[in-house]
Amino acid sequence: MRLFHLFVLFWGTLGAYVPATAQPWLPETGMPIGVYYYPEHWPEAQWGRDIQRMAELGFSFTHFAEFAWSRLEPVEGQYDFAWLDSCVTMAAEAGLKVIMCTPSPTPPAWLTEKHPEILVVAQDGRSQQHGTRLHAAYNHPAYQHYVEKIVTRMAERYGQDARIWGWQLDNEPHYSSLYDYSPWQEKQFRHWLRQRYGQIDSLNRAWGTAFWSQDYNHFDQIHLPNPDRGANPHALVDFRRFSAEEVAAGLAFQARVLRRHISDQQWITTNFAYYKFLPSVDPFLSREDLDFASHTMYLTSQFLDDAGDALSHRLGSGLELSFSQDLARSVDGETGIMELQPGQINWGRFNPQPLPGAVRMWLWHAYGLGDRFACAYRFRQPLFGGEQTHYGIMMTDGVTVQRGGTEYMQAIEEIGGLPPRPAAQMPLAHAGRRTALWWDQTSMLDMEVHPHHAGWNSWSVLYTYYSSLKRLGAPVDLVIAGDQLDPKVHPFLVVPAAIRVDAGTLAAWRAYAEAGGHLILTARTGTKDAHGHLWEARQQEPIWDLIGAEIEYFDHLPAEHPGQIRLGEASYPWHIWGDVLRPQAGTEVLATHADQFYAGAAAATTRRLGKGSVSYLGLVSDGGELEYQLLRGRFLAAGAEVMDLPPYVFVNWRSGYWVAVNYTAEAYDLPLSRGANLLHGDRVLPPAGVTVWTADR
Ligand code: GAL
Repeated sequence: MRLFHLFVLFWGTLGAYVPATAQPWLPETGMPIGVYYYPEHWPEAQWGRDIQRMAELGFSFTHFAEFAWSRLEPVEGQYDFAWLDSCVTMAAEAGLKVIMCTPSPTPPAWLTEKHPEILVVAQDGRSQQHGTRLHAAYNHPAYQHYVEKIVTRMAERYGQDARIWGWQLDNEPHYSSLYDYSPWQEKQFRHWLRQRYGQIDSLNRAWGTAFWSQDYNHFDQIHLPNPDRGANPHALVDFRRFSAEEVAAGLAFQARVLRRHISDQQWITTNFAYYKFLPSVDPFLSREDLDFASHTMYLTSQFLDDAGDALSHRLGSGLELSFSQDLARSVDGETGIMELQPGQINWGRFNPQPLPGAVRMWLWHAYGLGDRFACAYRFRQPLFGGEQTHYGIMMTDGVTVQRGGTEYMQAIEEIGGLPPRPAAQMPLAHAGRRTALWWDQTSMLDMEVHPHHAGWNSWSVLYTYYSSLKRLGAPVDLVIAGDQLDPKVHPFLVVPAAIRVDAGTLAAWRAYAEAGGHLILTARTGTKDAHGHLWEARQQEPIWDLIGAEIEYFDHLPAEHPGQIRLGEASYPWHIWGDVLRPQAGTEVLATHADQFYAGAAAATTRRLGKGSVSYLGLVSDGGELEYQLLRGRFLAAGAEVMDLPPYVFVNWRSGYWVAVNYTAEAYDLPLSRGANLLHGDRVLPPAGVTVWTADR
């Protein structure tokens, strides 16, 4: 009998894990679906018709004002809210709630004309100009002065208005050129460094300025580091951390302004596009300022990791939708998807039509992942501007629903029709594989600066582990340093390439394993200290005691001459990273090098520690199948049940419902138990298919 089969059978007989409580603002059950509307793009005479139509199609909320600053304050100090008031009234009359958005990404022409010093400067030294978006420095006082004024006006007007559900700050926060190289930012960076290091000598030590005669006499000698000119790597990491902190400070500033005026019934979020703008933005820095982080995802942009088969361009990247949800949810415990495409987009490498059924599948996937709401981007396809060929729910005539729009309607009906199952609790087998995934953005930045092998890509290392966890069927939460690590909540903790560690983190990992957790560390973890310096010790020596092995050295190979690592009877090719390990007494070897001059040496090990275990996987294999098999082995050894799903087939459990979706070109035969009660779809899950079932017999 398949293990998947087993856990379905056992549901309800072994007790249950109780998930954390939801945010009070978001619905406990279902997933309300809304849609973006830009009244300023359409004749006033059409607003009522359009808003009414949204309600008739089943949408339950709409989203206004995101980029409308020039229509809300056309001239400095002269405000016009009449048009927005009418639209809020029309929405309420149609029964739609409103998400109100602050218009900060698009300062009006009068503002940047008056204060050109707020404009972001790209790495080539050219200043952004009016006519784009996200082109002002989040931290510039002149910009903040005007942001405060417009946000205050909006908050005074709508902050106590029960028709407004909540607030979105800005839009996909980031600098239009990812980093701002303006003279203003240089000044701010120096200030940030002064705060951080106090004395110039401390900075000199942290940046290792003895190297290449880089010593500074004072902070004013420091310029923004240019990655194309062989800049100091420590300076580069600091500049990127600084930038992320400044974006977060800009969001915190707006949240403070809003909170002075809004009711505690309204929430504040922003919509992070992790896949486009990290590492220049760190959602976890906004944990205290937002009620929850929301996320956006355009699955067919062709920039994302996907199954790479004949239908991937039409089905999109389910892996990245999944990761985006897990990341955003882990910031504050809940999330919703703020932007989801209803059809073709306009800015991908190329922009294919989604496969019929794909749009519905994305919505079901979002539901299964736990999104508390979903919002279609956008209601009408624009007739002008930078996104002319971007589909909306409606076609260019404004009245015909396009195919993806009908799929939204289908999903609205299906998801809305699920009876609540308030007593349902996460099945024990599912809770038994719940995994914490370590998220350390500074380590990612460090390895971006120091990939050390042309083939090294921290994202693909992360996705190899994330995708493996999803194949095992594991629910995943991201954790950051300082988060509580509880083996009863997360029996597994996977740490992909956390190159920088400090004593506190090492102690927390040890305590987690001793208390019964299964800790899995991967290659490069613990190579450097918190400043990004190698330890004055042997390679990764500070983790030797924890993993129960010495790491003698690592090797790299050219792609055309891969090495082989043996696991059981099988061999797996690798070329990007291979550690050579020497296990201590009591440590078990999991995988060994099959060739090279170190043939027979360990590449992966495991040891018991207290009530738990610590494994070290010192490799990056070609294709990631070795990592999957090693993780699978650790899960089974710890007594967890695994699903063994093919890559890009996802199964999630939410509020009493199992939801399976298929992002591959092959049909997949779900190993359901006979007791499974199918609500949608079938045992055979076709491409773009959705199967929903309950299984409490
Ligand atoms: C998003 C952005 C939206 C819109 C959309 C088009 O990244 O947040 O404002 O531009 O892309 O796909």
